[in-house]
Amino acid sequence: MEINVESGRIEEKVTELLALGLFEGETELTGIVRYVDDLLGGTIIDVIKAGDFTGKLNQTLLLYPHNKIKSKRLLLVGLGRREEYSLEAVRSASGKVALQVRDRSLPSYMTLLYGEDSSLPVESLTQALVEGGELALYTFTRFKTETEGVPKDVKELTILVQKDGNIAPARDGVARARVVCDAIKLARDLSNAPSNDVTPQALADVAKMVAERLSLKCEVLERHDMEKLGMGGLLAVSSGSQKPPKMIIMEYKGTKDSPPIVLVGKAITFDSGGISIKPSEKMEDMKYDKSGGVAIIATMQTVAELRLPLNIIAIIPATENMPSGSAYKPGDVLRHYGGKTSEVISTDAEGRLILADALAYATNYKPGAIIDIATLTGACVVALGTHASGIMTNNQDLAKKVIEAGEASGERVWQLPLWKDYSEQIRSEVADMKNTGGRAGGAIVAAAFLSKFVGNYPWIHIDIAGTAYTQEGSIERSYVPKGATGVGVRLLLQLLRKWT
Ligand code: BES
Ligand code: MN
Ligand code: ZN
Repeated sequence: MEINVESGRIEEKVTELLALGLFEGETELTGIVRYVDDLLGGTIIDVIKAGDFTGKLNQTLLLYPHNKIKSKRLLLVGLGRREEYSLEAVRSASGKVALQVRDRSLPSYMTLLYGEDSSLPVESLTQALVEGGELALYTFTRFKTETEGVPKDVKELTILVQKDGNIAPARDGVARARVVCDAIKLARDLSNAPSNDVTPQALADVAKMVAERLSLKCEVLERHDMEKLGMGGLLAVSSGSQKPPKMIIMEYKGTKDSPPIVLVGKAITFDSGGISIKPSEKMEDMKYDKSGGVAIIATMQTVAELRLPLNIIAIIPATENMPSGSAYKPGDVLRHYGGKTSEVISTDAEGRLILADALAYATNYKPGAIIDIATLTGACVVALGTHASGIMTNNQDLAKKVIEAGEASGERVWQLPLWKDYSEQIRSEVADMKNTGGRAGGAIVAAAFLSKFVGNYPWIHIDIAGTAYTQEGSIERSYVPKGATGVGVRLLLQLLRKWT
């Protein structure tokens, strides 16, 4: 979508549809809303008094201004209560408006910058407005050959600001939103794509393309490299698949010699469960099991485009998890990178096995922090539902930062404890640990397993099993269409932008 920012007299703006945001429960109209209402001769006040429009968040009402302003349609959109106004409200209302525009097959629309007179900075407001619109209009149509039912693209959005001085910060907000939305679309596209299309090789190719375009280093470890390095987790999980595994490593250098932050992302391009095969119901959703890795590739793109003053390494172990005559089996003992051993109880607890190699490899960089993100456990969905990602850590400062980034980005996280007690559940008779520890506290037990591989480095684990794609229990959000959400990109970018 082409996006412009301009100021000027509202009544002169020629457009198919103009969107105007209203706060909830305000009967005394002020500012631009008052101005437009006066132009219309009191229509807005009328619909409020009639009770047809209250300003509740995401409520919409379409009016026809009858040539009193040059816009053909006026769409009122509720912003919720003024005291509860937030960037998340902007994203939400903006997404709702964009969907209404598309439903009417309009090629372009205009919108006032919702809450321009609020205390939120204009740059962030504009960024959130564009994010809401762009992300709501996202579609995954690559495999559709029939155009019927496929919505037409909205081509152009013009954002109107009241104060000329707000044009420059609003344009900065648009530019930042572009970077964020491009990355989220990349993440959604890769995550939505089926496993016969996005293979470990395909992920490596995308990482290389991103790296080349933005002058990042990118190295892909092949099976023979993994054999030499002793990455027994990734090798075992991949052994049932015809598709070769890849360990994708990207490097961004944005500052002189400071310890890097290492981002690790689980990329299982399909999780059948392996020999511990999953029930067939909803098994198709396991194409989304690469969402963590994909979020990391997309985040690296934003970091490089925004030239953040940090050093960042990305490590993405990528493979399928399949049953076959050559597949790894329950009872097998694996030797991970760095030498620790694990006993396989379930081949469906494969994520932690490939992450173990990646996390141990991450410690080679003497990192300032290690952050991993993974669709790791169904137990995390049981614990938190689909409204927050789970975090578990060995470092409370890091937790604080991630929680703040979650609030600011709208990609919320909730911390689960990681007491030593949980490690008791993965005690093995034959190896250093086993890969499952019963049903109790499953999300934490998985994190306890991971914690054995990060040494004493500050580390945080983000379990996105409930947030990576829309599923049973997901609430509808205007800017999150069905399927992959792209979760993690906004969270990690926010975290890294505020990193000190
Ligand atoms: N990829 C799954 C976790 C998952 C479940 C992601 C639901 C998204 C939605 C993971 O590899 C897995 O199978 N975990 C097992 C662990 C168990 C065997 C200890 C699980 O959650 O059942
Ligand atoms: Mn699994
Ligand atoms: Zn999995």
